[in-house]
Amino acid sequence: MEERIKKQVRQLQKTLNDHNYYYHVLDDPRISDAKYDRLMQELIDLETARPELKTPDSPTQRVGGAPLPAFDHAEHTLPMLSLDNAFSEREILDFHARILKNTGRDELLYTAEPKLDGVAIELRYENGRLVQAVTRGDGVVGEVVTDNVRTIRSVPLRLRDDAIPCPDLLEVRGEVFISRAGFQELNRQRQAKAKPVFANPRNAAAGSLRQLDSAVTASRPLDIFVYGRGQVTGLAFDSQSGFLDALSALGFPVNPLVKRQITIEQALAFYRDLIEIRPDLPYEIDGMVIKVDAVDLQQMLGEKIKSPRWAIAGKFAAVEKITRIRDIGVQVGRTGTLTPVAKLEPVKVGGVTVSRATLHNMDEIQKKDIRIGDNALITRAGDVIPKVVTILPADRTGGEQIFVMPGHCPVCHSPVQRLEGEAAVKCINAACPAQRKERIRHFVSKKGFDIDGLGKKLVEQLVDEGLLTSFADLFTLRKEQLIPLDRMADKSAQNLVTAIDKARQIPMHRLIFALGIHHTGEHAARLLARTFATLDDLMAASREDLEAIHGMGSITADAIAGFFANPENQGLIRQLESSGVSIVNALAEPAETSDHVFAGKTLVLTGTLTAMTRAEAKKRLHAIGAKVTGSVSGKTDFLVAGTEAGSKLARARELNVPVLDEDRFLSFLTS
Ligand code: IVH
Repeated sequence: MEERIKKQVRQLQKTLNDHNYYYHVLDDPRISDAKYDRLMQELIDLETARPELKTPDSPTQRVGGAPLPAFDHAEHTLPMLSLDNAFSEREILDFHARILKNTGRDELLYTAEPKLDGVAIELRYENGRLVQAVTRGDGVVGEVVTDNVRTIRSVPLRLRDDAIPCPDLLEVRGEVFISRAGFQELNRQRQAKAKPVFANPRNAAAGSLRQLDSAVTASRPLDIFVYGRGQVTGLAFDSQSGFLDALSALGFPVNPLVKRQITIEQALAFYRDLIEIRPDLPYEIDGMVIKVDAVDLQQMLGEKIKSPRWAIAGKFAAVEKITRIRDIGVQVGRTGTLTPVAKLEPVKVGGVTVSRATLHNMDEIQKKDIRIGDNALITRAGDVIPKVVTILPADRTGGEQIFVMPGHCPVCHSPVQRLEGEAAVKCINAACPAQRKERIRHFVSKKGFDIDGLGKKLVEQLVDEGLLTSFADLFTLRKEQLIPLDRMADKSAQNLVTAIDKARQIPMHRLIFALGIHHTGEHAARLLARTFATLDDLMAASREDLEAIHGMGSITADAIAGFFANPENQGLIRQLESSGVSIVNALAEPAETSDHVFAGKTLVLTGTLTAMTRAEAKKRLHAIGAKVTGSVSGKTDFLVAGTEAGSKLARARELNVPVLDEDRFLSFLTS
């Protein structure tokens, strides 16, 4: 009886997964909707009666589960890179010329794909089962949206293994999107319920994917096409086209328009075709991605920090609109740079209302001869940041005014400077309130100290009232000082003090980012935090030590060395330390014993770990109440596999023991 029901459930799960694939991936339904619904009901009934037979990859799980309190974050095994852009056929040919030069070839083949305008996602399959879905996030760390992604019908919950063997590990990347029709229908429903409508399908897809309640996601018409890879083991392919074929065989939806193994001329023809058919496609695309097909050539070309050298996005000319420049103002940034900003007559560009556009610097204004009162052609560059393409000289009336960069900072009134050979004009008064405000906003921003409730307006008041002159002042703010401020009451003041207090414990990379060192963004901060165990070690590092870090550029290394050589900055670090700021070295802090994922579990360590020795890992595991044994058996809960793991890894796979690579192990260990 037991066995029979189990078999019946598994059979129904398989049948429904198959029909789901025929319908949503192949677009080739093989049974009626009514029959599908009947089978689904049968499975729901059986799984309700026998909940232990319900698995996460059962087709019944696509309806969404209990809402989450917040999303977890996960680090991508390999960073999710972005793409460089080419905006014309000329620039695509420039890319081709670079590729030929760098590979020493006189010809080579590409795979070209439509560039979907959606949300990038990574799906992780272990032994053929979908185990995790993570958004791109900042490319290094993204949000875990597995429950939501399970609700997307075209995402396989299990890989198909009828054509090729199922890989042990497959991280596949793709774009989640909503079709034009799905978007229209969704907005129609929202309008009927007096809910705000989405500006465009991409926003609708992003909003739907980031729902804490997966039942809401399940009700949205999300779809996916896959096109890229993260870490993959146990799958043979030697080209992008071969990889896409393997993905199709495993049951994924691959865009049917993809052109495999084509010459550069064919790619350009495809680019023109796509521009032609773009308005008629059922979904929005914003370009063509062209990728060197052969994996060995991709490896030879390598990657830059943010993008591969072997691929480029051929973007389509963006939507452009004409509007009037009402005025030109000046913004003072964190580093004192004065940026002219055009204040525009508000205009909708590609679904978004634009009322300001950065003019970058004086060179740009002079080059484009931009004047106050001009009519200008506005675009959203890369479809995001508004930009003035050109002004319309024919529309001039003679009343337009030439913009002159002020000789003094508009905020602190100290004289500005233009450095030799640089386009930027700077306010060099380090005490300038505008700079101070921006520096503090950066310091408390999400990627820095992440202090809840300390927004732009409040930072401005705190600086204007003289309560914040340096970062360290933040940690000595008292409730009584906050209460008299605008929109502050006893409770909000207390909440802020509590939030600041909590923020004193900070991981090293976030502290480094918060300092706002020139050229040092989140990526460089993470590299530094990985390399130096303490702030003292970092401060003592020479320019050469910094430059030797893999992935660190020389300009950044210079800026960091310069920052810490400055006695004022050294003083700032000491001040932060004495006001109680301390680094939580994620690795050195053993978590609570009772509720740690590894507490009470049995682990086996094998292969070489890079962040610590096996002995150290063992000590750490003991400290959180885990057991570490020498051999893999049915009792093993996890195998931790470093590099060059051998027979234990094979044994773990045989016994279906979950295998953690070093990154995942560390992220659990420190969670
Ligand atoms: S490949 C290393 N292929 O475009 C390769 N990206 O501007 C990185 N995108 O973040 C991406 N369609 O979200 C690739 N066929 C396609 C794509 C595609 C859309 C998105 C993706 C990426 C962004 C880069």
